[in-house]
Amino acid sequence: MNDFFRGRRLRSTPALRALVGETRLAAPDLIMPYFVVEAKGSVRKPINSMPGQNQLSLDELDKQVARATDLGLRACLLFGIPAHKDPLGGQAYDENGIVQRAIRRLKRRHGAELVVIADTCLCEYTSHGHCGVLLENGVVDNDPSLELLAKAALAQARAGADVIAPSDMMDGRVAAIRQALDVNGFNHIPIMSYAAKYASAYYGPFREAAESAPKSGDRKSYQMDPANAREAMREVAADALEGADMLIVKPAGPYLDILRQTRDAVNLPLAAYQVSGEYSLIRAAAQLGWVDEDRVVMESLIGIKRAGADMLITYFSEMLLEKGLAR
Ligand code: PBG
Ligand code: ZN
Repeated sequence: MNDFFRGRRLRSTPALRALVGETRLAAPDLIMPYFVVEAKGSVRKPINSMPGQNQLSLDELDKQVARATDLGLRACLLFGIPAHKDPLGGQAYDENGIVQRAIRRLKRRHGAELVVIADTCLCEYTSHGHCGVLLENGVVDNDPSLELLAKAALAQARAGADVIAPSDMMDGRVAAIRQALDVNGFNHIPIMSYAAKYASAYYGPFREAAESAPKSGDRKSYQMDPANAREAMREVAADALEGADMLIVKPAGPYLDILRQTRDAVNLPLAAYQVSGEYSLIRAAAQLGWVDEDRVVMESLIGIKRAGADMLITYFSEMLLEKGLAR
């Protein structure tokens, strides 16, 4: 009797299942985001909307990252919360801006052992909370923003950032940043661009964490419409053409089709950002006892990798390493 497919033959033991497993999480794939806050003294301030995540002062960041690297963390992504904001986001490109100081500190301790990725944007630094220059009529002005973003990227590179990750979604920022890096002696520094970044409600918890919610309007004039997939392919192609070395799709879970299409369209390394809302939804349901956190986290991230992501930016990175779920 051989008239049907016996798929169960390969599912009978854990070892056999592992042997035929097509997708795995590994420690070197993980990128842990951190929020570094400019403050006097030690600060470790829990982020309400993201249980388990904290705003960290420089010394606390240093400790936290040291613990994580001991567990096997190889890459982190830094966001800064400055003490002072202004309309042009001056702290984003100040040599002593909080992220620049954090980069110097982490590089001093970890050297080449840790990939320090700098999120490049203005929204955490502008008083109005937009990712670019805001005109009086409420329009976010594209081209003048490029100059400021390039300055921010350069300040991050000068501080020792290993990778520049522009998340602003202004047109032409990859080209502008590439040019600024190249003419200033940083042609060796890669750009990881948030190529397909959607105007997503899933960023809600992050905006509390980074204190970066726009004071007026929303980001729909620069971030993408969740309804559009073909447009994402145009964004991806543009960033590749402008010189991006790696790409990010964001959010991740609700955009698995975009991950797959990007993977199939471009041969650049691809990261998926499991964003704050994805994190908090899982955490909250787990805290209520409604889902098994470890298993849901694993399944969500395996799905994201299966869809085509090489690297995972996830707030669960430390937890995965701690529990030995990624080695
Ligand atoms: C800043 C930025 C945001 C995120 C990463 N970089 C927020 C936004 O665009 O409003 C979101 C990350 C997350 O939700 O975890 N441009
Ligand atoms: Zn921004």
